[in-house]
Amino acid sequence: METLSINKLVKTFKDGNKEEKILKGIDLELSQGEITALIGASGSGKSTLLTVVAGLQKSTMGKIIFEDKELTEMNPTQLRDVRAKRFGFVFQHAHLVQFLTVQEQLQLMMDTAELNWSKKKREEEIKSVLQAVDMWSHKDSYPDNLSGGEKQRVAIARAIIHQPSMLFADEPTASLDSKRSIEVIELLRSLSKERNHTVLMVTHDTDMLKYADRTVIMKDGVISES
Ligand SMILES: Nc1ncnc2c1ncn2[C@@H]1O[C@H](COP(=O)(O)OP(=O)(O)OP(=O)(O)O)[C@@H](O)[C@H]1O
Ligand SMILES: [Mg+2]
Repeated sequence: METLSINKLVKTFKDGNKEEKILKGIDLELSQGEITALIGASGSGKSTLLTVVAGLQKSTMGKIIFEDKELTEMNPTQLRDVRAKRFGFVFQHAHLVQFLTVQEQLQLMMDTAELNWSKKKREEEIKSVLQAVDMWSHKDSYPDNLSGGEKQRVAIARAIIHQPSMLFADEPTASLDSKRSIEVIELLRSLSKERNHTVLMVTHDTDMLKYADRTVIMKDGVISES
């Protein structure tokens, strides 16, 4: 079953008087529970595709269908709702809120997603997700006291705490050394499989590809299967 379907997606940027077409008609189907790695040269448009598909910036043309709804037709409020409730995000840097503890980072995400979970359910979910990323013992720590790998594990916990359907990851291991990268990608894979997230992950690192179910390549504004 397709979770997300991208159809003839075009994105152009204005560069002075010139229009630059970065995405030139992308077609891509993402199946439920599948991990897709997106690779391609620097500047080829990987982050542009990820952010357009995730509703973080607008497409110029084309369709994005997510769970039978057309994202490209939604108004900003509807789009914000999908993003907050149904999508999770992991970036190269963890982007944690400096003045919140680890568990407060997750609470903030649950508030944003407007979940109607009881206090007990929220506490249980926080415990279970922080245990899954092996950060429960750090639940009251602030980001400044965590290592890069630990921060990224918290970022993963935050990305999945509200049980999103889609997980978007843009170079999630790029700021980590190779040992930490493997820990983080293994975690991302096992949690996604356990919780049935559909994952679109941009990466530069070919060592990460074996953790994906499939790899697609962005070149000259279009996508091909590897
Ligand atoms: N907001 C913008 N305005 C104008 N041009 C942009 C904008 N965002 C991206 N671009 C251009 O679009 C192209 C693709 O950028 P993008 O960040 O998607 O590449 P990428 O494949 O993610 O590269 P990298 O691997 O270096 O992260 C680049 O030429 C970039 O300069
Ligand atoms: Mg990029």
